[in-house]
Amino acid sequence: RRPDALPRDLEGRRVVVSAGGTREPLDPVRYLGNRSSGKQGYALARTAVQRGATVTLVSAATVALPEVAGAELVRAGTAEELRSAMHEAAKGADILVMAAAVADFRPTERAEYKIKKTDHDPRPIALTRNPDILAELVEARAEGQVIVGFAAETGDDSGDVLEHARAKLKRKGCDLLVVNAVGEGKAFETEDNAGWLLSADGSERAVELGSKSYMASDIWDAVVAFIEA
Ligand code: CTP
Ligand code: CA
Repeated sequence: RRPDALPRDLEGRRVVVSAGGTREPLDPVRYLGNRSSGKQGYALARTAVQRGATVTLVSAATVALPEVAGAELVRAGTAEELRSAMHEAAKGADILVMAAAVADFRPTERAEYKIKKTDHDPRPIALTRNPDILAELVEARAEGQVIVGFAAETGDDSGDVLEHARAKLKRKGCDLLVVNAVGEGKAFETEDNAGWLLSADGSERAVELGSKSYMASDIWDAVVAFIEA
């Protein structure tokens, strides 16, 4: 849909979207990161602005992306920074969307100086769990606030993509979960996304393969439907 053909159904709503992947430093030059491009989160922020929302975009590392005109941009490098930025932005917000790929673990120690190569193999890198920001936001949620989570899943021996996703929706306690099947050139570093939208009320629907802005429109449609229900 052309921007001028979009509904203004987010008018008056305060929306916070996180995007991109966190980077967890090991020393001043190295980090543990992930392959999130930030494109889906930026598309969500852009579409929300076009549909009339007041938008804060909390951005971790992304590929080079055009800025989202009309949105407030807050930068976050690490999961800890993203956590503070989200808790701050969540105050007074109507809708929170956790599209960012948050590192589950960070190096336990962050070396002050660059780790030098020696004649020996290095010590293994010890890792510490990062806080689950989405779970914290659900825990701290204000009355009526709508919270959307994302899940990138693969099927494995213990279940298929949707089974894992349904369990995750329950575990996280959010209102909507956007599910992308990953692997074999899907979701990461691609222009297109496909998946499912799962709602806490038990409704589920498939999102056809399409651009990330197409998927963003579908997600906002689902959020608006959830609010109206
Ligand atoms: N998330 C978060 N904080 C974390 C990890 C994830 O807020 N430390 C959010 C993501 O932004 C996403 C949702 O939780 O919206 C699901 O992320 P995912 O990585 O799929 O779930 P995990 O609970 O980390 O489970 P796992 O990686 O083991 O599948
Ligand atoms: Ca994870």
